[in-house]
Amino acid sequence: MTASTDVSAADFLPAEWSLPRLSRAAAGCRGCELYRDATQTVFGKGPAHAALMLVGEQPGDVEDREGEPFVGPAGKLLRRALNEAGIDPDSTYLTNAVKHFRFQTAGSGARRLHKKPTTGHLRACRPWLQAELTSVSPRFVVALGATAAQSLYGTRFKLTQSRGRLLPIPEDFPGDHDRLEAVMATVHPSAVLRAPDRKMAYQGFLYDLKVVAGSL
Ligand code: URA
Ligand code: SF4
Repeated sequence: MTASTDVSAADFLPAEWSLPRLSRAAAGCRGCELYRDATQTVFGKGPAHAALMLVGEQPGDVEDREGEPFVGPAGKLLRRALNEAGIDPDSTYLTNAVKHFRFQTAGSGARRLHKKPTTGHLRACRPWLQAELTSVSPRFVVALGATAAQSLYGTRFKLTQSRGRLLPIPEDFPGDHDRLEAVMATVHPSAVLRAPDRKMAYQGFLYDLKVVAGSL
């Protein structure tokens, strides 16, 4: 058994769930071991009551250094697609299922390669996502990729089956969700960057975002 069995971000949540307080508290989170090797917590960012929340997987290399979500190559693509879909990226709340960068080093150790978070990491970090969902109370949530979707809907969620549709909100969906109208799961922007046919992958991603834009 790993040492992190019962520890989670829940032990670090502040009493009051305003975004500034949550973000400050998350900076000191040790709810799983990922804080040890990463540079800093990358908390969500955006308007306090954004109508749309986008949930990624975890910060990447650039995000880890800069301390902000979606400021690297995937973020650039995401912002471009949002703009093209008619959604102002700055009007959205951007966050991740896991708030610390998980990586493995390659070569001389200088290169840090993304490593997928485990279901244990998702579970440990979910209290932050739950608190963000409660505090921001968005009308729509977009899960970017299978990991984000599974953090919200459980590990049985199949992206290939449910992608691009406005999904109903189950009772046990994380956070208070009085204002939440629908959730959509689509591909992760870094999957678009890696796709053999990048143009086609981008068009599919854009198509999904336009469905959300049409409901906003
Ligand atoms: N990929 C993510 O899932 N989140 C980020 O913040 C950056 C890249
Ligand atoms: Fe806490 Fe999440 Fe970072 Fe783990 S990944 S230490 S749970 S903020």
